[in-house]
Amino acid sequence: MDDRFTLVIFGATGDLTKRKLLPALWSLYQGRTLPEPFSILAVARGEMTSETFRGRMREAVAAFARIQPPSEAVWERFASCLSYCAGDPKDPALYPRLGKALEGHPNRLFYCATPPSLYATIVTNLGGSGLARGRDGFTRIIIEKPFGRDLESAQELNGLIAGVFRERQVYRIDHYLGKETVQNILVLRFANGIFEPLWNREHVDHVQITVGESIGVESRGPYYEEAGALRDMVQNHMLQLLCLIAMEPPVTFDADPVRDEKNKVMRALKPIEPDAVDDSAVRGQYGPGYVGGQRVAGYRDEPGVRPDSTTETYAALKLFVQNWRWAGVPFYLRTGKRLAKRVSEIAIQFKRTPHLIFRRDAEGVDPNVLVLRIQPDEGMSLTVEAKTPGPDLRLRPVTMDFRYGAVFGGEPPEAYERLLLDAINGDPTLYARGDWVEHAWAALEPVLRRWGSDPPPKFPNYEAGSWGPPEADAFLERDGRKWRRL
Ligand code: BG6
Repeated sequence: MDDRFTLVIFGATGDLTKRKLLPALWSLYQGRTLPEPFSILAVARGEMTSETFRGRMREAVAAFARIQPPSEAVWERFASCLSYCAGDPKDPALYPRLGKALEGHPNRLFYCATPPSLYATIVTNLGGSGLARGRDGFTRIIIEKPFGRDLESAQELNGLIAGVFRERQVYRIDHYLGKETVQNILVLRFANGIFEPLWNREHVDHVQITVGESIGVESRGPYYEEAGALRDMVQNHMLQLLCLIAMEPPVTFDADPVRDEKNKVMRALKPIEPDAVDDSAVRGQYGPGYVGGQRVAGYRDEPGVRPDSTTETYAALKLFVQNWRWAGVPFYLRTGKRLAKRVSEIAIQFKRTPHLIFRRDAEGVDPNVLVLRIQPDEGMSLTVEAKTPGPDLRLRPVTMDFRYGAVFGGEPPEAYERLLLDAINGDPTLYARGDWVEHAWAALEPVLRRWGSDPPPKFPNYEAGSWGPPEADAFLERDGRKWRRL
């Protein structure tokens, strides 16, 4: 027996393994941060030898990894830790075979990279076969998103998992939390003294969180038809971002203190009244258009999508965090596929000066904005008014910019690298806790219900390559505000 850890990947022939997991493991190995010795046991239904699987992963790494193999010899060393086991995760007979393969490997990390419909079966089978309870080492499980499709199904899945694993064994992944710039939000807020005094309703007018994507649904039509933007992006990534901006300082940077504070934000969210959904949310679906100069199809013409689909590919939301810090400050969230650009950012828009002594209409002076740019061009900028040089007193907004690339150089690690490493090392700080996931579903429940039962008045309602439906602009204009032009 040694202290190696073994990662068992269910869904090993899927897209996630190919695009994210293996490239991330490889980059960790290359960076000498992957604890050794290790083994990776890939499980999927298709019959193939370990050799064939290694060959496929070699191609995946060449196509998707941040770091390329410097030599075949290094790749061969990594690949020798990789093996493949053909089996159906639904078949209970697979698990004793896995048990056999894991004999002498006390530290086990199971990864559910399968379609979500299999999570419950895998958990049940791990429990039934005794694999969920390690004796000599650790046993953990990573569950991919989506975690349920509404409050009830998330509660059910949490309940089932709790019957098999202890909460500290469970790692619910949200890859946004692994992004360097997202982790930096807490550093910015809690390692600097100058922001905290301004970080409240006295000084902040509103917050805009944008996660814009220029891609469409690509080959994921059937999944996306069941999900839509609200389930795919808002319930997880965007509400996590909101929590990081709105939370109180945790007592320490450890898993439970951090996650407790995030939960408090979720509990403070003002419920959206069922008959006021239209005042708090806007949905959209893209039609054909141009993205980056290329003609692209509308959502309803994407493979695997119903020609009369009412699934939303755009969602905008107005949320309030009802507590002493944030009462009355709107948090506007928007996300969409096939928008004009791929850009994710959080903009903290400060209040205007109470009185302007310069001869210019106060309305014409832009308020200060602190922008945390999550991707691409990761960085941060602060907009301030400045005097333009010359005899006249003219004001103009200028930005103070910080770019990660310019300061630190190189490409930041991929989110999956950080998250896999944390799960291997037993640190769930950047993972979602079961109660948080339920709060997040509960917060969106009225919108999910309304959108699920009332067909949208007019879909498609935005052109691919635009910034979303006109209703989304009107939504902010009603509040006397505007979406930032990105
Ligand atoms: C995933 C969603 O969780 O996040 C995808 O399922 C989306 O639809 C992706 O494209 C966006 O992630 P990133 O890291 O490219 O911003």
